[in-house]
Amino acid sequence: MSTAEFYIYTDGACSGNPGPGGWAAVIMHVDQVQEISGHEEKTTNQRMELKAAVEALRRVPPGSRVKLHSDSAYLVNCFNQDWMTRWQKNGWVTSKGQAVENQDLWRELLELIGTNEVEWIKVKGHSSDQLNQRCDLLARGAIDSEGLNGANGANKNRVLSGLSGSPAVEKAPVDSYKVRTKTRKNDRRLRRLGLLTGGGDCPGLNAVIRAVVKGAAYNYNSEVVGFNNGFRGLVENDAYLIEDFAVSGILNRGGTILGTSNRDNPFDFGPGGSTDYRDTNKDRSGDAVNNLDEWGIECLVVIGGDGSLLLAHRFSKLGVPVIGIPKTIDNDLPATDVTFGFDSAVTTATEAIDKIHTTAESHHRVMVVEVMGRNAGWIALQAGMAGGGDIILIPELPFKYQYIVDKIMERNRRGKKFSIIVVAEGAYPAGGEPSYQVKGDVKRLSGIGSAVSREIEKRTDMESRATVLGHLQRGGSPTSYDRVLATRFGVKAVELFQEKKYNEMVCLRGHNIESAPLEEAVSGTKRVDISSDQVRAALAVGTSFGCPI
Ligand code: F6P
Repeated sequence: MSTAEFYIYTDGACSGNPGPGGWAAVIMHVDQVQEISGHEEKTTNQRMELKAAVEALRRVPPGSRVKLHSDSAYLVNCFNQDWMTRWQKNGWVTSKGQAVENQDLWRELLELIGTNEVEWIKVKGHSSDQLNQRCDLLARGAIDSEGLNGANGANKNRVLSGLSGSPAVEKAPVDSYKVRTKTRKNDRRLRRLGLLTGGGDCPGLNAVIRAVVKGAAYNYNSEVVGFNNGFRGLVENDAYLIEDFAVSGILNRGGTILGTSNRDNPFDFGPGGSTDYRDTNKDRSGDAVNNLDEWGIECLVVIGGDGSLLLAHRFSKLGVPVIGIPKTIDNDLPATDVTFGFDSAVTTATEAIDKIHTTAESHHRVMVVEVMGRNAGWIALQAGMAGGGDIILIPELPFKYQYIVDKIMERNRRGKKFSIIVVAEGAYPAGGEPSYQVKGDVKRLSGIGSAVSREIEKRTDMESRATVLGHLQRGGSPTSYDRVLATRFGVKAVELFQEKKYNEMVCLRGHNIESAPLEEAVSGTKRVDISSDQVRAALAVGTSFGCPI
């Protein structure tokens, strides 16, 4: 942002039209974030939107470039279609011959935009943009703050749900406003940690971000700088201070507000980023370290799976204090019993298997469901058992087609004219290889589901279909288990930061959250133990793994 540039977000809120109303704006300029808000007693929502814009622009020195964000289509259109100039020319009368409402504000707005270069941007709505959401909260808060709207009474809900109505108002200081300024950079009273999400996304990432930001702010007077899009943001210094309000309401949201990337490797970072985690290109780790220094970051928290944690470990070798948080739907990280995201993926896969069951049964088919998991069979095993899969194929136990066919036939003999096969994407036939889809020099596990399905049709007279669940397993809202685990992990990471216990990964052992050396966490892949009680339990209820065990 140049010194002449301002980013402004505005919003207005009203409990009736007319009724008590609030307005708010967030003004960003270089390192400063200013929040302003105020209220009027008997007003309209439109006036509050307008008021927010005027009040924000009043605080901008003439000659500035302003990007003004608003979710009010009315305001944005009035500006972009230049209605104000038309009204001015026509003596402030609309095309229908009526006096323009809120003339005082429109006139001032005209003057203010005349002295600045203003671009008016329409944002989608409260939940689509964090800063807009913040304005919305401030504006609603401004209504409530003076008791105008009966903050603790029934009217509050009415405001929050956006219904109109005009609650009784006894007295109200009209047009008062508050200004709060926050310093973004160079405030050395606070300890800072950096945060990024790397690798494939999974449910629970936002819950961890929330826990780290809130945990740091509320307990240790520390603040969090978030890097966008995984390690790419670290290299390119694409970062911002995550205010605690920005993580409000994200606990149950899938994905990551920071964005992620599963191919950008600072140790191999070409002009357009990296193609994967291999070292063939340009080492930009020095830039990443400089960026951490520039922000005054004491420790980098990496939320990631094996690839991202390996990179975190490499940074720790360069002397960067690092803390890891184990994320992956695959659950394949050593040093933790469970990774967050796994439970959500298993829940999605189980629901899918439940649904596939009905078609299998109605059509007397063999339905094959391919699930993710890379070279570990955790999702297949867990979802297969939960969904009552008859045959579960995992990479830890290479299968033989004959055993699969035998199981299907045995079921047919018992009157079960359908079967469900749950196959991990990394599963493969004994003596064979996993199936890959190859794009350029990138190989991705894919295709075993349809291969199994084709072979069943060849070897039996039954119809078979394959369904690949794919990225559905990484999407959507985290389960309650994952929300809680993610929150515990995030809070533990902040505790480690506070204790300056670095180069560790937080982990779950039994029922307890602990930590383990990062070294241990990146030492290999945690795969299904085929002698575990879980595998024995599956066998005991008649599940086949497509091989003798
Ligand atoms: O590691 C998570 C995971 O979803 C694996 O289960 C899967 O093999 C892989 O990522 C898919 O990666 P991408 O999103 O790059 O296709």
